Amino acid sequence: MKGNKINKENINSGNTGNPYLPEIATVKKIIKETPNIVSLQLVIDDEKKRKDFIYEPGQVGQISVFGFGESTFVINSSTSNKDFLQFSIMKAGVNTTAIHNLSEGEKVGLRAPLGNWFPYKEMEGKKIIFVGGGIGLAPLRPLIFYMLENKDKYEKLTLLSAAKTPDDFCFKYDIESWEKSKDIDIISTIDTVCTGWDKEVGLCPNVLEVLKPSPENTIAIVCGPPIMIKYTLEVLDRLEFKEDMIYTTLERRMKCGVGKCGRCNIGEKFVCLDGPVFSLKELNSLSEAFM
Ligand SMILES: Cc1cc2nc3c(=O)[nH]c(=O)nc-3n(C[C@H](O)[C@H](O)[C@H](O)COP(=O)(O)OP(=O)(O)OC[C@H]3O[C@@H](n4cnc5c(N)ncnc54)[C@H](O)[C@@H]3O)c2cc1C
Ligand code: FES
Repeated sequence: MKGNKINKENINSGNTGNPYLPEIATVKKIIKETPNIVSLQLVIDDEKKRKDFIYEPGQVGQISVFGFGESTFVINSSTSNKDFLQFSIMKAGVNTTAIHNLSEGEKVGLRAPLGNWFPYKEMEGKKIIFVGGGIGLAPLRPLIFYMLENKDKYEKLTLLSAAKTPDDFCFKYDIESWEKSKDIDIISTIDTVCTGWDKEVGLCPNVLEVLKPSPENTIAIVCGPPIMIKYTLEVLDRLEFKEDMIYTTLERRMKCGVGKCGRCNIGEKFVCLDGPVFSLKELNSLSEAFM
């Protein structure tokens, strides 16, 4: 399951055998998620390649805006959705600003899917607690969709979703619909008190500590900014979650995305090939600090 090394058989990007060649894709729809995050729904122009495209929850793609650059984003639509690929982009610098300036109908380059994915088969029969901070919900989104579509295979699903303010929640439309369903428990928290907010208030690790999920047969999957991951992992340690029952995703600056340029390595591991999904056990075994 882990690894998903890029080779001629499994690369979707262009099916040319050349993983550096982007596919041309059209921006079908743009959704304004928060003041600084937009989601793009992309459609690969080549019909055959679009139909043949498969990916797994947690895999990423490289989006290029012509004349600006190329950067890495998680594919966050459901893996069973064949109509488009969704990516959510926080404005950070040159290329992400160029993405924010795109309009529906414009073309981008896309190299995808890249990287490994969450080992969801190995998680069958377990309780899953997802902890997502801000845009950290993006890598969790396709996994939550998969597990909801296969809910009989998982004992219980819980999502702790955190944002600075109510406006900063990504995928509000999903959270609202998941809150109505009985298939997943949703806890939403914001950093500080805000008029009209009647849910949890407090930083994600603090709320998790109060929730006190039992580590018994439970896997915790934590995605978000590095500082949130650091303190959440400390809480999980205090709650006696074992390191092989905790998963997270790493963000390293990437270039080639296929294990050639050496830009993204941590010790002997390449985030673009061996990641971005890692168990805490794997991370603890790496020679270099990862955060
Ligand atoms: C595996 C992976 C998955 C990612 N998924 C998403 C996603 O779903 N949505 C999203 O909005 N972003 C995601 N990112 C981060 C995204 O790739 C960067 O924000 C983007 O590359 C910045 O490009 P830029 O040209 O706008 O920034 P630049 O102009 O190159 O840099 C602007 C600022 O952003 C910082 N930066 C650049 N690249 C990264 C990076 N990879 N990680 C952290 N800081 C960076 C720079 O240090 C600088 O401070 C992901 C990164 C990785 C490695
Ligand atoms: S991005 Fe080039 S080796 Fe990972």
